[in-house]
Amino acid sequence: MSKDNVFVFDHPLIQHKISLMRDKRTTTKEFRELVSEVSMLMAYEVTRNLPLKEIEVETPIATAKTRVLAGKKLALLPILRAGLGMVDGMLNLLPMAKVGHIGLYRDPKTLEPVEYYCKLPEDAEERDIVILDPMLATGGSAAAAITFLKSKGIQNIQFMCLIAAPEGIERLQRDHPDVPVFCAALDQRLNEHAYIVPGLGDAGDRLFGTK
Ligand code: PRP
Ligand code: URA
Repeated sequence: MSKDNVFVFDHPLIQHKISLMRDKRTTTKEFRELVSEVSMLMAYEVTRNLPLKEIEVETPIATAKTRVLAGKKLALLPILRAGLGMVDGMLNLLPMAKVGHIGLYRDPKTLEPVEYYCKLPEDAEERDIVILDPMLATGGSAAAAITFLKSKGIQNIQFMCLIAAPEGIERLQRDHPDVPVFCAALDQRLNEHAYIVPGLGDAGDRLFGTK
């Protein structure tokens, strides 16, 4: 597996919080808070290469030549429903980002993604898009979301998840080698139900308390 476009964040705070999320004793409230916190910490890394421009600011002492963000337009695109849990943490650091939504669920029998909703920012094709989904398992949902966005003329796409399986990474590298993948952990494998091992279970259920 070529990993040129795959970034696994090994920051101690991120690793600590991912460990707490994995624990089956973690409550829905705690899980939700952890997803938001890890997303915020990951936003810090994902935005590392945002362009800057130089400006002048009057400090109380003198004029400073200093740098601010060049105003690159971003959009966050959570995959419903579990991706929703990552939005607030990202917006804490990127308050100017627009938010679109794409609804996909994985058919439990075929394991194929089924699209049921999509609403993108009007100027989505002018923006850098960060797709948000905590889990990259077979990669079917992520690959379908990216194919859909590309069919709308959207080019600059990054994919951000919390836990990835090698199978999902391989699928994205095969179908969309141009899309960088950011994750907090790269796990061992999928089980026979295509759940990530060891993973953290069903992210949507754990976020919303549905099971
Ligand atoms: C989960 C997860 C991803 C998908 C990953 O969503 O949030 O979207 O599975 O699996 P894949 O890589 O094999 O496609 P799910 O389909 O359970 O829907 P939900 O978020 O509504 O619970
Ligand atoms: N979706 C989840 O929520 N968890 C997995 O382990 C795989 C897919």
